[in-house]
Amino acid sequence: MSDAPQQNGTAFPPRVFSGIQPSGGLTLGNYLGAIRRFVNMQEANQGKGIETLYCMVDQHAITVPQSPADLTRNTRELAAGYIAAGLDPAKSILFNQSQVAEHAQLGWIFNCVARMGWMQRMTQWKDKAGKNTQNASLGLFAYPALMAADILVYHATHVPVGEDQKQHVELTRDIAAKFNHDYGVDFFPMTEPVIEGAATRVMSLRDGSKKMSKSDPSDASRINMTDDADAIAQKIRKARTDPDALPSEVEGLKDRAEARNLVNIYAALDNRTVDQVLSEVGGKQFSEFKPMLADLAVARLSPISTEMARLMQTPDEIDTILRSGAERARAIAAPILQQTYDIVGMIR
Ligand code: TYM
Repeated sequence: MSDAPQQNGTAFPPRVFSGIQPSGGLTLGNYLGAIRRFVNMQEANQGKGIETLYCMVDQHAITVPQSPADLTRNTRELAAGYIAAGLDPAKSILFNQSQVAEHAQLGWIFNCVARMGWMQRMTQWKDKAGKNTQNASLGLFAYPALMAADILVYHATHVPVGEDQKQHVELTRDIAAKFNHDYGVDFFPMTEPVIEGAATRVMSLRDGSKKMSKSDPSDASRINMTDDADAIAQKIRKARTDPDALPSEVEGLKDRAEARNLVNIYAALDNRTVDQVLSEVGGKQFSEFKPMLADLAVARLSPISTEMARLMQTPDEIDTILRSGAERARAIAAPILQQTYDIVGMIR
């Protein structure tokens, strides 16, 4: 992790925050682009007095319709995924966004700082609202201001995310800078997105130009964290590729989006660089490489999905972990919100 961001000479102590929406099953994209990197940051920051906070952002999930039963289940399943993948409630603060009211409270203040034009430029808003913006929820439009609040209510300095969230973290900086400027303070840090590694943008298995996503109508386009070994192997076998053999060097993947995606996934799952992988598999046909990838994916993912299923059998234990995480999170967030109220002139 790079040094603490500076703002007008003030150093903010490093603190890590990130979140995932409990809006459906977890995908391999969420795992490689986010959760696995959350675990790495948890481990790298142990014993340094740097908190790592990881959230289930249920208030973001309801910006599009969710059935109540699914929301509850998906929130627990996401928590189970975090824990099964290696996030440890003794090392990181794991909690549910709606359990810490300070997010929404600061979110309102940021709704009044952010500008309509900033929100309109967000690609996720354009993608999710589609053509019928008049019918999209106000929450979907304001979504990035709440995300800024998630981050800044902890004065978080580093936010591990996949590439698709970079624009939102940049907007978080814009909101922090405008707040600081408007009120003449040096209160919110300039948060840095942490986007590193081979799999910060895992693509669809059916179309190398589209992100792997839980909302893609085709289940064959993604690997779900709950897929069994057969489903994983079958999806990889059917993954779209081109007829050529794999190259021995990275340049050979240029203009071969599907091939590049599979090699990136392999490298990320195997904790190696793309160069290292290509030096081993260069020259192989996909008929040989795909079974290698399927075996590796099953070996890495099945212990996680087995553990998730085990944890889901005791939902009360998950809820207890989340409640205690929320208490710890609130202990950090409440004083920062109170100071924000003071700055804004709200009597407390
Ligand atoms: P969400 O729930 O869509 O995705 C959660 C995380 O997974 C990453 N991700 C991917 N990474 C690589 N390849 C993919 N195909 C892929 N798909 C998803 C995302 O980049 C993200 O890191 N707005 C956020 C949630 C959020 C948040 C926050 C994140 C709310 N508040 C505060 C960080 C900090 C979102 O919708 O992520």
